[in-house]
Amino acid sequence: MEKYAGTVEDSCPDWRTIIPERYWPAELAHLPESLAERIRGLPDDRGLFLWGPQGAGKTYANAAAAKHLWGAGFDIAWQPFEELLLRVRSTYRPGGGSELDILEPLCQVDVLCIEDVGCTVAYDRQETDFSLRTFLVLLDHRLAHCRKTFLSSNKSIEDLAHNFDTRIASRICEACDVVRIAGRDRRADRLKRKLGVQDE
Ligand SMILES: Nc1ncnc2c1ncn2[C@@H]1O[C@H](COP(=O)(O)OP(=O)(O)OP(=O)(O)O)[C@@H](O)[C@H]1O
Ligand SMILES: [Mg+2]
Repeated sequence: MEKYAGTVEDSCPDWRTIIPERYWPAELAHLPESLAERIRGLPDDRGLFLWGPQGAGKTYANAAAAKHLWGAGFDIAWQPFEELLLRVRSTYRPGGGSELDILEPLCQVDVLCIEDVGCTVAYDRQETDFSLRTFLVLLDHRLAHCRKTFLSSNKSIEDLAHNFDTRIASRICEACDVVRIAGRDRRADRLKRKLGVQDE
């Protein structure tokens, strides 16, 4: 299957070219009813900021939301945050194109999921100026043009305000409902079941 290039001109042909394969089974019906209802009831200019511990289901919920919105006729795009920074940096080599080639489709798309925001920087460290600028450009543009953005992170808004800055935190709060996804690490649970480990 040809990977969707995320160009503004072509509407995305099939959600399977956007959403990572592991999350293809995700459906709103698999989520807690309150979360599914929240996703269904979001205004067109508002997404979710899902935060919480690893393996609790943030990416799964974002995939379910993106599939649901694709079904309702919205174009969708999916972008892990650190991969975005790598993609933008890769344009700096000779012949690597322009930063705008990467950022513009993500600014324009109806619905954007940005995964794992701020997850590679320790709690007591600062994101780089490059990381801050890239995120601010993207968030600012989407906010100004009332486009729906879903974010996932292991960190709270307060932690991100510290790692990035309060301007980022302020924009996330305007663009997204903030929802904590609590719960056990489903990956660890799966491994324990495989190994036959009983919880104490
Ligand atoms: N509601 C669900 N129903 C079935 N499987 C689920 C559900 N939520 C999560 N999973 C599965 O549990 C695993 C962990 O979920 P997921 O990757 O969404 O966690 P996460 O919160 O995004 O973790 P991380 O913070 O490490 O990115 C995945 O294999 C996912 O498919
Ligand atoms: Mg995840």
